Amino acid sequence: MIMSKHEALKKLEEEMENDSSLPLRESNLVFGEGSPDCEAMFIGEGPGFYEDKMKRPFVGRAGQLLDKLIMSIGWKRENVYITNVLKRRPPGNRDPLPGEIEAYAPYLTRQIEIIDPPVIVPLGRFAMNYFLPEAKISRDQGKLFKLGERYIYPLFHPAAALRGTGTLNSLTESFMKLPEVLKKLETMAEVVAVETRKDAQKSLF
Ligand code: URA
Repeated sequence: MIMSKHEALKKLEEEMENDSSLPLRESNLVFGEGSPDCEAMFIGEGPGFYEDKMKRPFVGRAGQLLDKLIMSIGWKRENVYITNVLKRRPPGNRDPLPGEIEAYAPYLTRQIEIIDPPVIVPLGRFAMNYFLPEAKISRDQGKLFKLGERYIYPLFHPAAALRGTGTLNSLTESFMKLPEVLKKLETMAEVVAVETRKDAQKSLF
């Protein structure tokens, strides 16, 4: 039986809900939302206080900035897909632990496979390093990487942009280039090919 993307995502979410081996089970599952036929899949670090409460990604202050950026390029939030590396909130919003990232990774991999987005947009250092372990956010945000068959376009985390004007300006500038990035995806000379980095590939697929 061929499942639709919606059905496959629903099934994956149910599987996660029932997986008692996953860490952070005292928090709610924030699986992700949006269109599985999106042009871009945004991936943050993990749910915060409001995300945990509402079981939706990016609904707090950082989410409001993300919404504004999405609208500023003429897109709609419901037409992109938004999720996180960690699908449950770490206590007190602490940084994700390596073991937690590892535990959630197979699910994120399957989520990406189902959605098969033209470009993945990791938001912030943690999400970026999940895909590109060697990358540095201040150096590499706004650059397009090719990892296997996937395109990765890392951006500053909106929460970081709320803390500093320089970061906000860089995030805004790089975000504005997203439609152009999508248009030129196949031909862009700036693409940094990292498909030979076996370690990075292994953690992803
Ligand atoms: N920060 C994240 O990384 N993800 C969210 O969903 C909200 C805030």
